Amino acid sequence: MPILDPTELAARLPSTIRMGTATSSYQIEGAVDEDGRGPANWDVFCATPGTIADGSSGAVACDHYHRMPDDVALMADLGMEVYRFSIAWPRIMPEGAGRVERRGLDFYDRLVDALLAAGIEPVPTLYHWDLPQALEDAGGWPERDTAGRFADYAQVVVERLGDRVTRWATLNEPWCSSHLGYHAGAHAPGETDAAKAMAAAYNLLRAHHLGGQAVRAASSSAQLGVVLNVTTIHGDDEDAVRALDAIRNRWWLDGCLRGSVPADALEAWSAVLGDAEPDVRSGDLAGETPDWLGVNYYYPEVVTTEPEGVAFPDACVDPARSVPPTGETTAMGWRIDASAFADLLRRVHEGWGPIPIAITENGAAFDDDQPVEGRLPDPRRTTYLSDHLAAVADAAADGVPITDYMAWSLMDNFEWALGYSKRFGIVHVDYDTQVRTPKDSARWYADVVAAVKARR
Ligand code: FCB
Repeated sequence: MPILDPTELAARLPSTIRMGTATSSYQIEGAVDEDGRGPANWDVFCATPGTIADGSSGAVACDHYHRMPDDVALMADLGMEVYRFSIAWPRIMPEGAGRVERRGLDFYDRLVDALLAAGIEPVPTLYHWDLPQALEDAGGWPERDTAGRFADYAQVVVERLGDRVTRWATLNEPWCSSHLGYHAGAHAPGETDAAKAMAAAYNLLRAHHLGGQAVRAASSSAQLGVVLNVTTIHGDDEDAVRALDAIRNRWWLDGCLRGSVPADALEAWSAVLGDAEPDVRSGDLAGETPDWLGVNYYYPEVVTTEPEGVAFPDACVDPARSVPPTGETTAMGWRIDASAFADLLRRVHEGWGPIPIAITENGAAFDDDQPVEGRLPDPRRTTYLSDHLAAVADAAADGVPITDYMAWSLMDNFEWALGYSKRFGIVHVDYDTQVRTPKDSARWYADVVAAVKARR
């Protein structure tokens, strides 16, 4: 579709929708050795040769740790209303458990105050993949104990910030932490073990529940959420669609919202254990029902059982194989399909709602040019945002209670295993000078946000 006029698009969105951007700690902060921060699993993973496409790491990233006030001012200039960021567990508990590092808490305290002073609601995520290395060394997410340590950490953070922060997300995309980290080997800690990936996936569900209880105990006004990268799955083979759906979507939605895991996923998990049984104990998932759900959407999956399909990074999804995209993709090689986004939102609402849904990430990487005299035209990113915001409007018009839209990302940053080679920002970052330049997509997005506000 052609890029929509901001006023026209705003008129289609719910007037109550709150708009902003999202980032995460390891991707933007840098300053990995400062103020007592302990080592993270990602520091160690990046130091392992061959793991990161450009050999880089988050050691400096966008230097946000030192530039935070300017970055908040930038958001304010763009008229943003909400900001989703994550808190680095290794800054708060450098050894993963026990000792609390006050200077780490102080940083997020200042960030929250700066955001509130700028009229921007802080929406922190407690875990966006940077695990204290001490806990990784102790077995990481496949270990049951890690979930309890997460709850201890959550309590410390919420006790400090809960007087000013209302909306909390426990985990970001726990599918990535488990399947990409312990099965595909593509993310920290880089393991390739299906049984570990499934145990990690289960313990992340436990972490959501235990952490959720800790959040509520520390702040009676907390609105609890979790951020999932569920997606639409197409394909000509029902068994293949069901197999991927069990691991990608239903595991997380059932696990977080219903306190159970799907029987077919449990069977698939049992199958990789041979004689052993999954370590599933009664009461494990009987924690808290979230008040809101965060949905991150980038692209839909297409599955086949044909041998020319490519193996998925997920454990336990046989017989599903991935159909490589044809047609236009983003620089990540991801399909572009906004109508699948509207379908996803309708499905989540009908199947697991009613629950307020925040779009906590959506956006696209493209091979941008360099800024020239303070401008950087990025029409493909603007088109992506325009199409996907129109899809959000369609879903909302069909009754899906969508509360927020947060573009990924505020600025170019460390894109995990792809390093700095992929740029998702609506603001360009020059990594040599750390100069930030709003791309044309940011200007357009700011106009949409202003037009939404003008409707209230
Ligand atoms: C999501 C992650 C986020 C970012 C985007 C592109 O899976 O949550 O950190 O890397 O993808």
